[in-house]
Amino acid sequence: MRSVLGSPGLRRHVLAAIASTGGLLFGFDTGIISGALPLIQREWHLDTFASGLLVAVLLGGAVIGALVAGQVCDRLGRREIITATSATFALGAFGSGLAPSIDWLIVNRAVVGLALGAISVSVPLHIAEIAPAKSRGALVSCNQLAITIGILLAYIIAAMLGNHHEAWRHMFMAGSALAVLLGITSVALLESPRWLLWQDDEQEARRVLGELIARPQDVDREIDRIKRGLAAESESSLGRLILGRGRPAMVTGMGLYFFQQFVGINAILYFAPSIFAKAGFDSQTAALLATVAIGILNVLMTVLAMRLLDRVGRRPLLSIGFAGMALSLLAVGLTFAAFEGESGPQRWLVLLALMTFIACFAVSIGPIGWLMISEIYPTTLRGRAMSIPSAAHWLFNAAISFSFLPLLLHLGDGPTFGLFALFAVTGWFFCRFLVPETKGLTLEEIQEPHPERPPT
Ligand code: BGC
Repeated sequence: MRSVLGSPGLRRHVLAAIASTGGLLFGFDTGIISGALPLIQREWHLDTFASGLLVAVLLGGAVIGALVAGQVCDRLGRREIITATSATFALGAFGSGLAPSIDWLIVNRAVVGLALGAISVSVPLHIAEIAPAKSRGALVSCNQLAITIGILLAYIIAAMLGNHHEAWRHMFMAGSALAVLLGITSVALLESPRWLLWQDDEQEARRVLGELIARPQDVDREIDRIKRGLAAESESSLGRLILGRGRPAMVTGMGLYFFQQFVGINAILYFAPSIFAKAGFDSQTAALLATVAIGILNVLMTVLAMRLLDRVGRRPLLSIGFAGMALSLLAVGLTFAAFEGESGPQRWLVLLALMTFIACFAVSIGPIGWLMISEIYPTTLRGRAMSIPSAAHWLFNAAISFSFLPLLLHLGDGPTFGLFALFAVTGWFFCRFLVPETKGLTLEEIQEPHPERPPT
């Protein structure tokens, strides 16, 4: 490893990039379903119940996968789970591609869901524990960058495969190819030195840190620091963490995901072509805009976030992001309410506002959600603690994905976006008062009580 991956600094980036292939699977699979589902519906004449079930089993599997992964990460380590998960994903995606019947497809989508849930916990956790404090924001957010690239890749592959007979099978197969890539490269990952020290395996922790830190004296210092942090951790049971001193951190994690999902990001990503069509674009332009304007902007703004997170900090980006999301969602809502059903120049307003929304999401709560839950819990409970908000994230995602179309139908387009704007405003206040700043602090320092920071 040492000679192949060059300097320790470069090695951390390469390892973060390898682990982030998990994010690619996450983004690809959540993105590909909007291309695959209409084709499966057409081929197998699915009714609304069967189509809903196909989406629901994936999200249900992800909830269970997240909860199980948290336990496994704490008991067996942070590395092996990534390899095991990629194998599970590959099997599920391959099985989905070959599915001879809807029952078979549903089972395989549940297997993919299990893997997705596990990936959503293990990847940010793994990267956070090998990253130095000064660049943890950028390194953990490689995962979010990979999620956005995965979504874009899914849009592009779906567009390239078109809607010919059985194209959906190739879409799922493409996901399994990505999982094989992760499986192969994940053998290069290193176990987390924090987990090794928690397990009293100082020799291996020293070896791993020797790969990640240039100077031997810095390795000694890092070992002492992590050991002191472990000794100071007072909560050893998850129940006590949730109900005792760690409760604010649990509230922070749950709240970050609640607002990440309830501003409507996935409603907009999944239904962008129909939103643009409603705003007055013809259907081909609408589909193109969804891919180019939304997909590419999401990737580019995540790159910008990676540059800013460790310089500006998490809290200022959350403030700017939620304020921008609130204003842009309000603009979409008002435009729809004012020009209901008309086709005219207002479509450009909707396009501009939705692009502003995506930019604000991608520079703030998109990456910061996954980043902060990997930072705010103690090492000896990190996997189990992270798994609770991560599982909730999948439930929140399901709630929005299933309620968006009924909301449009019963409330109308304008009020639905107005509701999302209200969530963005509440999210702004939540972050202002209940989210701590973690920029530049080691994972151990984040656990120390600090009078000027909201507690974790
Ligand atoms: C969210 C996903 C969302 C994606 C969009 C992630 O942080 O968890 O639900 O689809 O960002 O970029």
